Amino acid sequence: MKFQLNHEDPLRYSCPVLVIGCFEEKAYEPTLARFDQTLDGVVSALYRDKEFTGALGKTKLFNTFGKVAAERLLLVGLGKEQEFTPERMRQASGAAAQALRAAGLSGCAVCVPEGNGLLRAAAEGIALGAYSFDQYKTDPDLKTGPATVAFLVPEGCSAVDGEQLLDEARLVCEAVRYTRDLVSQPGNVATPSFLAEKALELAALFDIPCQVWDREDLERHGMTALLAVARGSRQQPRFISFDYRGAGDRKKPVVLVGKGITFDAGGISLKPRDGMERMKDDMAGAAVVMGVFMAVASLKLPVNLVGLIPLAENLPGGNAYKPGDVLRSLSGKTIEIVNTDAEGRLVLCDALHHALSYRPAAVIDVATLTGACVVALGRFASGLLSNDDALARALKRAGEETGERVWQLPLWEEYGELMKSDIADLKNSGGPPAGTITAAWFLKNFVGTTRWAHLDIAGTAWEEKGRHYLPKGATGIGLRLLVQYLRGLC
Ligand code: BES
Ligand code: MN
Ligand code: ZN
Repeated sequence: MKFQLNHEDPLRYSCPVLVIGCFEEKAYEPTLARFDQTLDGVVSALYRDKEFTGALGKTKLFNTFGKVAAERLLLVGLGKEQEFTPERMRQASGAAAQALRAAGLSGCAVCVPEGNGLLRAAAEGIALGAYSFDQYKTDPDLKTGPATVAFLVPEGCSAVDGEQLLDEARLVCEAVRYTRDLVSQPGNVATPSFLAEKALELAALFDIPCQVWDREDLERHGMTALLAVARGSRQQPRFISFDYRGAGDRKKPVVLVGKGITFDAGGISLKPRDGMERMKDDMAGAAVVMGVFMAVASLKLPVNLVGLIPLAENLPGGNAYKPGDVLRSLSGKTIEIVNTDAEGRLVLCDALHHALSYRPAAVIDVATLTGACVVALGRFASGLLSNDDALARALKRAGEETGERVWQLPLWEEYGELMKSDIADLKNSGGPPAGTITAAWFLKNFVGTTRWAHLDIAGTAWEEKGRHYLPKGATGIGLRLLVQYLRGLC
């Protein structure tokens, strides 16, 4: 997708379709009033007849029959003016992009009222809302989304460089699209070895030092918990490490860890059949971490960032790990397996322990970890658990700024009771109560006193219905949040 910045008068800008944001219950702002006048009152008629009300995300497309330079107008509702935020601009732009795709319109312009927050939000909304994954559709008439987008901004209203802002938004959204593409890939394609190849390609493209360990390497390094999860599958596990140094050698790195279960059937503790196909997205954390590296490297952010990605497939099989097994994890802590479907925390615990060897400033893991998180927060927030208030606060702020909201849950000691084992140091599941918290409590045991935060994206990684800038399918949620957090460190 190409972005352009333009200061022309929207009435004189010729393009196949011009997108205009409109408030609810409001005499229109000056540009819209001028359009209304030139188009013989069509906009006021639409409002009067309630064919278009300005409700958030609702759109109305119509032809201008040559009365203005744009061939068509696409009105998109911004909701009530008093409730307007950059996130709403992002949402409205996303809705507009989905409408443009549905109409098969590929060149468009977007009027952006004022302010840089809005230009960035508009660009993100368009880029993210226009996404669709059609690699496996053979229909030759498939509709494509907008290819070139001009943003019409009034002259001299911005303090920072609009071009640069658009460039950055484009790069971040390209990374989100990359992440969504990976998550959308079916399990028969996106295997551990496939993702490891993708990581090496990415690393080569952006010149990021990257290493992939195969099974023998994992055995040599003692990543027993990861190996145990992988044993039920013919697909061999992998472990990816990225090591991006944008801030010199002296600064301690932030380490990101992404859960990479390329398919989660539950193992011997097999999942029910209905909906199991969704479990191809159990590597969304891994894909987010890969996308963050794409974004950070293309933005050339001056941070030191390590990325660790344990990859395995969780299947039942003759050699699979079993309930009752006891594992000695990389950290030395022993784990009693009571449920092979609680596999995410196992692959993560080895990765988290390994993360400590980088002497990190902070460790953040991202994982589709618990069904309980879907129950607690649904699709509208990711779970946040942390042993450090300042880190949690920074992530919450980044969540508000990006619209990728997080909600913190407590990690009180009492919850640890549920994870005690009779035979080992820990068991891998405490059952249904407080499932998101006990999972995080398990992880916390492997980070020592290092500042750490855990993002549970089980409810947010996949959008079931499709809304505004999140078309149905993989969302890439977590990526913009983490990039925003990392920007805050620069
Ligand atoms: N990948 C799942 C979590 C999940 C469930 C993500 C639904 C998205 C939607 C995870 O590996 C899992 O199976 N967790 C179990 C843990 C339980 C056995 C303690 C769960 O949530 O049921
Ligand atoms: Mn599972
Ligand atoms: Zn899982």
